[in-house]
Amino acid sequence: MIYFWVGLGFIGFVWLLYVSLPAKHPRKVCIEGIENPEMVKQYNRMSNWPQFRFLRWLAIRKLEKLGLCGSLVDVGCGPGLLLAALKKRNPKIQINGIDISCEMVKNAKANFERLGINDANFVAGDVGKLPIADGTFDFAVSTLSLHHWGDPVKGFSEIYRILKPGGQLLVFDVRRNIPKLMYGFLWFVQNIVISKALRRANEPTNSFLSSYTLKEIKSILDNIPSIRNYDVSSGFLWNYISANK
Ligand SMILES: C[S@@+](CC[C@H](N)C(=O)[O-])C[C@H]1O[C@@H](n2cnc3c(N)ncnc32)[C@H](O)[C@@H]1O
Repeated sequence: MIYFWVGLGFIGFVWLLYVSLPAKHPRKVCIEGIENPEMVKQYNRMSNWPQFRFLRWLAIRKLEKLGLCGSLVDVGCGPGLLLAALKKRNPKIQINGIDISCEMVKNAKANFERLGINDANFVAGDVGKLPIADGTFDFAVSTLSLHHWGDPVKGFSEIYRILKPGGQLLVFDVRRNIPKLMYGFLWFVQNIVISKALRRANEPTNSFLSSYTLKEIKSILDNIPSIRNYDVSSGFLWNYISANK
C-alpha cells in the first residue's frame, strides 16, 4: 500500500512541476476593436470584477510613483474605468481616452455621465494612427489593449510621438507564457463563469493567446529607433512596459 501512495505522490509532484512550466502556445491574432454592442456591455460589466480593479490599482500605483500630474491619455481605454479611478484620486489631472471602437467610446462617455465627471475627452481612433498632435500629453497609459493592436511597432511609436519631452508611457498587458495550469483556469472561466457574448469570442483565453511574451515585447521596442529608455518586466499574469521620452 505504501508504494501506491508514494507512487501517487510522485506522479502528483511531477504533474505540479509540469503545469507550473510556462505555456508555449504560438501567438494567435485577435480582433482589433471591440464593436459588438453586447460584448461591449458584457466587458463593461466584467470590468468591475476584482481582478480588473486590482489591475487598475496596480496601474494607478505605478503612475503615481512616476509622478503623475498634468495631462494623461488612456489608449484603448475601453469603458474608461481606469480614467475614472485616476480622476477620483487625482482630481487635478486632465484625462483623455481614445479607443478604436466607437461603441466603446460611447460606453465610456455614458459611464462618465453617470459618474458625473464632465471634464474628460473621449475620441475614437486607432493607436497606429493617433489623431493627436506631437508632444501633447505628460502621461500615456494603456491596459489590456496591446494584444489587440494590428501593428504594435506603429502603436508604440505613435504613443511615444504624442508624449511631451520628459513624458512617461506605461503599458500593461497580459502575457501568453503564463503557467500551463492558468490556461486550465481560463478554460473554467470561459466555459462556466463568463457571459455568452464573450464566450462566443473565446474570451478570456483568446486575449492571453494573442498577447506577447516579454522577449517579443523587447524585440518590438528594439525596432523603434525613437524609443531608447524603456523598461520591461513581468508579473504573475502581466507584462509591464514603461518608457520615458
Ligand atoms: C480588453 S479592452 C481593455 C479596455 C481597458 N483598457 C481596460 O483595461 O479594461 C481592449 C480595448 O482596446 C481597444 N483597441 C483595440 N485595438 C485598438 C487600436 N488599434 N487602437 C485603439 N484601441 C484599440 C478595444 O476596442 C478595447 O476597447
